[in-house]
Amino acid sequence: MKFSDAIEEIKNRLSIVNVISEYVKLERKGSSYVGICPFHADKNPSFSVNEPRKMYKCFACGKGGNIYTFLQEYLQITFREAVLMLAKKANIEIEDDFSSNESFKKNAEKKNKLYELYRDAANIYYKILFSDIGKAGLNYLISRKLTKETIKKFGLGFAPNDFGYIYNLMKKKGYDDTLLFESKLFRLYNGKPCDTFYNRVMFPLVDTYKHVIGFQSRTLDPKPKERKYVNSDDSLIFHKKSFLYAMNLAYFSKENYYILCEGNMDAITIHQAGFDSAVATMGTAFNEQQMFLLKRKPKKVYLCQDTDEAGVKAIISSDKILKKSGIETYVIDIKPSKDVDEYINNYGVDSFKAKLNNPIPTFLFIISTLKNKYNISDPYELEKYINEIVDRLTEISNTFVRDSYLKKIALQENLDLGILHSLLEKKLKGNKVVYNNETANQNQNISLNNNINKSKISKVDSDFIQLIYLLPEYKNHILSIVSSDELYDDIYKCLYKFYENGVSMSSIYNKIIDRDEDEKQIINTILSYNLSFDEDDKQQILNSLNQVIRKIKIRNAENDTDGSIESIYELNKKIIDINKTIYIK
Ligand code: GTP
Ligand code: MN
Repeated sequence: MKFSDAIEEIKNRLSIVNVISEYVKLERKGSSYVGICPFHADKNPSFSVNEPRKMYKCFACGKGGNIYTFLQEYLQITFREAVLMLAKKANIEIEDDFSSNESFKKNAEKKNKLYELYRDAANIYYKILFSDIGKAGLNYLISRKLTKETIKKFGLGFAPNDFGYIYNLMKKKGYDDTLLFESKLFRLYNGKPCDTFYNRVMFPLVDTYKHVIGFQSRTLDPKPKERKYVNSDDSLIFHKKSFLYAMNLAYFSKENYYILCEGNMDAITIHQAGFDSAVATMGTAFNEQQMFLLKRKPKKVYLCQDTDEAGVKAIISSDKILKKSGIETYVIDIKPSKDVDEYINNYGVDSFKAKLNNPIPTFLFIISTLKNKYNISDPYELEKYINEIVDRLTEISNTFVRDSYLKKIALQENLDLGILHSLLEKKLKGNKVVYNNETANQNQNISLNNNINKSKISKVDSDFIQLIYLLPEYKNHILSIVSSDELYDDIYKCLYKFYENGVSMSSIYNKIIDRDEDEKQIINTILSYNLSFDEDDKQQILNSLNQVIRKIKIRNAENDTDGSIESIYELNKKIIDINKTIYIK
């Protein structure tokens, strides 16, 4: 059978309840099956699997999808891998499986060889650490207060002070020069093959599929002037920009937060202290690709970067990236230590734990750093300082959150609440009127990755698409109320068109198989977007749909105004009407 035909056929043949039961304990409840959600720290069974619709959904964290997305998420595999895996289960043979394509095969083979080579090298480094020639390395790690258990968990090792030691061992194992040099673990020096890393502690870099894909190495010198850490170069299997150290462990943590720090030693120390959701950027500036690694699970992020000036900048810029994608962030302030490794070693695990139990909302943390920017004993500077605080407050659209921050800041910064309040009111009045706190947030845009930065995901439109697909019988009515022009982007228009043509949600994949990966990724995200209602409760679905349609109508009405007093007056009347209308009964 062709790959594209198999997608639907496999789904029909297999029971989603059976597939998911292999990984999650499910119990029958009414017409669906429920269990503890594997994608977030779930206490009650919020995860529900619906056999007739062939879909699953977690009502607490919002993750949802079909058999393929489940395996993709749960096992960290690609769509294609999930299809191939389930094809076997469904007894379907796929003819045009492009893993049988020659160049694909070659590439995959080479990748596998590199994985194997790195794994072998990691084992060698690990063994050496506990042998005579590794003493210096082991002593160094012990001096950094790492236990043997931790060393084992992270697979740390030692590259001895001998130019060709590992090279010779690898040759003995039968590796040929082409692959050895391609791995960049070995190179020619004056025509002689030698090891890239020597006299260094080795940190294997492991991805969430548990492949060793590279190394980071550290000199034994406690305070080196240069090249303290040296990393593997980027390769066919390692891309530093889209890697987070210790994600292979943190991904499987049950905590509802990640801890983001800078150095791999920081991440290791946090794990050793008993918190298994720490990851490290390894010195690079946190970027969008790394955000995507974090976004695979609905968790908060606790920013725990260094306390120097660069660290504070890192907090501000990572917060920006994370917020843009809808991730809540907090700061773990580890002053007066320079980094979290030092903090835990100086102040102990309990003190760090207390900080984790009381993370600082990033907004409040950033405000607390403003004092350093102004000399507040000078009244003019004080005024600027207060103005900046108030300006930042006006950027928060939710009144409740804004008010609560206002009070906290007055207390925290020892400022007069009355003055702050009246300044804020004045600025808010001067700004363009915000009609509805919710609408201000509703186009919370999520950029997907660097390449498809410009394509945006809109929550309102995603909800709209999801809801209407649950209501095929209302098609004509819905089409008469919302025209495709009112939707946010071509992708939604296209999904709306599918709906109009009677395509079911589960067969959308067949329709988009020829589209480029970016578009597929966006559509996949839209279709698995937070759907926070019970799919069996029709009235709730209708209520939600009415609300979503109102948001779309209000948004479009707002876009139509030119900002003049008359048009704002008209707009206000329109909004009142829209909010009274029940579009779908
Ligand atoms: P320790 O001194 O071992 O505690 O390291 P640290 O984690 O405190 O390192 P630091 O804050 O200096 O740097 C944070 C991270 O940046 C490190 O974990 C490395 O991943 C990276 N880094 C630091 N120095 C270098 C370097 O000289 N070269 C490269 N490529 N990366 C570095
Ligand atoms: Mn350090």
